[in-house]
Order: sequence, then structure tokens, then C-alpha cells
Amino acid sequence: MGYTVSEYVDDLHSLRDQQLDDAAMMAAVKPLAKKLAEDGSWFDEKMMAINTDMGVGISLLHEEDDHSLTVISVAWSKDNLDVPPHDHGTWAVVAGVKGLERNILWQRQDDGSHEAPDYAEVAPVSHADITLGDVIAMSPTDIHTVENVGEGVSLSLHTYGKNPNTTDRFQYDTKTNRAKALKVDFKSMD
Ligand SMILES: [Fe+2]
Repeated sequence: MGYTVSEYVDDLHSLRDQQLDDAAMMAAVKPLAKKLAEDGSWFDEKMMAINTDMGVGISLLHEEDDHSLTVISVAWSKDNLDVPPHDHGTWAVVAGVKGLERNILWQRQDDGSHEAPDYAEVAPVSHADITLGDVIAMSPTDIHTVENVGEGVSLSLHTYGKNPNTTDRFQYDTKTNRAKALKVDFKSMD
């Protein structure tokens, strides 16, 4: 039995209607995202094209009119990645599809009391390698970076409570220890 993006979105709607908290929502979405990643009938070779300055290729598969329940595929270049540590400002579920991606989780090291309101020290604390069959979830304030540690361009399937370009989310500059807003242009694959 196949599992299409539209069936996945139907399931996301059902879960949203249950008004689950973020943790319960992420736990419920994970097996569904894995099922969609493993089905793969939604895959198009065009999704492997890198189309941003950050060395990633983003294809929008679904977004509600109010920007909630956003599903994208993200291709990660092998050599040109320039994605700083960032959070999403919403829950996120990431399923591996092609290649091998290392998700490095970072944590705030300072207590937020610095006189500069945008001061933020972050450091890597753990990592998880994902390939097809693996799924990870991140809470709205979890901070991560991604490395492509396999062969060639990798691809993963990302589901967010809300399109992260419509949330208050941050990227972290580890040289200056400053946080600033992050917006990524979701260019269409067409
Ligand atoms: Fe991310």
C-alpha cells in the first residue's frame, strides 16, 4: 500500500484536530514521516538540485494557508553547505531519504543574562546520523546543524508545525556569539 503526501497531510490534519502538545505531536508524526520517506513515490529528481546560497535545495510539498503543517524536502550538498546553527521556532520532524546526514544538536551555554540582548553562546553536545528509515524530532528551541557525511547529495523530508520562515527563529554566529533572525528563501523547484 502506497502512502502519498496527500494521505500524510490528511493524517497531520487528524493529529492537529486532537490538539496535541508539541511533544505528543512530534511522537505521533515521526512514524508517519518515516512511512512517507520510505514510500518515496513523491520523489522527483528535481528535488536533488541545490537552489539556495546555503548549499541546500528546498522543495515545498505542502503548506496550509495559515503556514502551518509545512512539508519540504531538503537536499544537502556534499561540499558547499553553509548553514549556521539554527532553531526553527516550531516543532520539526526530519526523516532521512537519501544519503547519510549528521544532525548535530547544540545547546545554549550562557544563561541569557548578558547585557547585549542578542548575545548567545552555543556549543555542539550530541549528534544523530540519519538515513532512510531514521527519523528525528526537534522542539521549537532545539538548535542544530547538518553535515552531509555520505556519498553525493543527500535528501531528507522535513515536517514543521509552521513554516519556519513565518516563525520567530534564530541562527547563531559562533564567532561573534550573537543570535539573529533566520529566513531561508524556499525557492520553487520549477
Ligand atoms: Fe533546520
